Amino acid sequence: MRIAVLISGRGSNLEALIHDQNRYRVCHVISNNFNARGIALAQRHGITNTIIDWSDRRQAEQMLCDLLIAVKADLVVLAGFMRILSPAAINAAGKVINIHPSLLPKYPGLKTHQKVIDNKDQWHGATVHMVNEELDGGLILAQTRFQVDTSMNAEQLADELISKEHKLLTTVVGLIADNQMTWQDQLLYMNEKTCSKPLMIEY
Ligand code: GRF
Repeated sequence: MRIAVLISGRGSNLEALIHDQNRYRVCHVISNNFNARGIALAQRHGITNTIIDWSDRRQAEQMLCDLLIAVKADLVVLAGFMRILSPAAINAAGKVINIHPSLLPKYPGLKTHQKVIDNKDQWHGATVHMVNEELDGGLILAQTRFQVDTSMNAEQLADELISKEHKLLTTVVGLIADNQMTWQDQLLYMNEKTCSKPLMIEY
């Protein structure tokens, strides 16, 4: 299975995917950020990459659509991509998933770790979900969670979560590559588990 990965920055989830390649292959990395560490990473690994200048949003969205159509990936993975995909881009991409650092539907958007602290939540985690036109709003495929240590600050929570994100994302992409998840009517279902419940994996 060929996957295209969209990033904006550090690219640690991209790195986890690159290291996990055997059932799937990262065929293209796309970024809106010229200085993204993930782009340097892609270059080091000889992965084709494209940087799209987002200063003209309309033009950027058109370029992204054209590129996604040309790349013809089996799956598009948003891994820290800090732009909302236009409906046309979602359509061009076909199958798109995103990793988000919260237990959706709680806390779509930014500053999720701080929100967990502010609300004194007992649990924190990450979600892999399908991408639709709503911000962090598509069907939830899988989540991982851990109990919050109340002495932790937001940065420590983010550090605790990121390695679990890597495991969750590579697990879900691997399941899709192994045809353990089935696409139906634009949605993705676990083959042998219940159709309506997302996977919950604790690492
Ligand atoms: C991750 O926390 C991911 O969940 C969120 O953005 C962050 C990206 O980190 N969408 P990295 O660039 O993969 O290191």
